[in-house]
Amino acid sequence: QSKGIIFDLDGVIVDTAKFHFLAWRKMSNNLGFDITQEQNEDLKGVSRVLSLQRILKWGNKTVSEEDFQRLMTEKNEDYLSQISSMSENDLLPGMGKILDYLTQNNIPFALGSASKNARPILKSLKIYDRFAAIVDGNDVTKAKPDPEVFLIAAEKLNMKPEDCIVFEDALAGIEAANTARMISIGIGDKNVLQDADYNFADSTEIEIEFLEKLVRK
Ligand code: BG6
Ligand code: MG
Repeated sequence: QSKGIIFDLDGVIVDTAKFHFLAWRKMSNNLGFDITQEQNEDLKGVSRVLSLQRILKWGNKTVSEEDFQRLMTEKNEDYLSQISSMSENDLLPGMGKILDYLTQNNIPFALGSASKNARPILKSLKIYDRFAAIVDGNDVTKAKPDPEVFLIAAEKLNMKPEDCIVFEDALAGIEAANTARMISIGIGDKNVLQDADYNFADSTEIEIEFLEKLVRK
């Protein structure tokens, strides 16, 4: 018997964070203000709606509901055009090895992402069929740091929350995992992700022996 794994998508499986940032930045510039890399940390893992609300607040802008929807659509179209050429070569370094290990050893894994683009992205990466469950921005009502997305994923994996291990690059995601009482693995800046149970700068640092021990029940 093994534990189950839940992966975040953006910033863990694939490096889309920079494209989200570029698209939000372009939108902000069009509205007459700029956003910084540092502010972008507060957008990681955050849903599309919440991201736009946050950005407009930073820029001291209020917009009509209609404009709000239009800005989200335009940002998403811009984002999608930037990632349109994505292929299996765009898996983040170290992830291929981890996914192969899990698949070969029948350790179930799920996706727990805020993105509404998750399914097509997993298909472009050619790993869609390997997920036992996919929970994304289309399936949840409460955004991270609310644990909803991970709790649904655990349920779909038929695992108790405490038997799930979450891979996350965002503070909001680590908080969501911790609130769900799951084991949290922070991928990225340790100073940002200090609440994680384990920290790695990137997935190449994760040894298979470490995973072997961790997934054992
Ligand atoms: C998260 C990203 O995974 O998904 C956020 O970290 C993004 O940056 C959010 O805003 C929503 O994604 P999408 O693809 O539905 O706009
Ligand atoms: Mg992420």
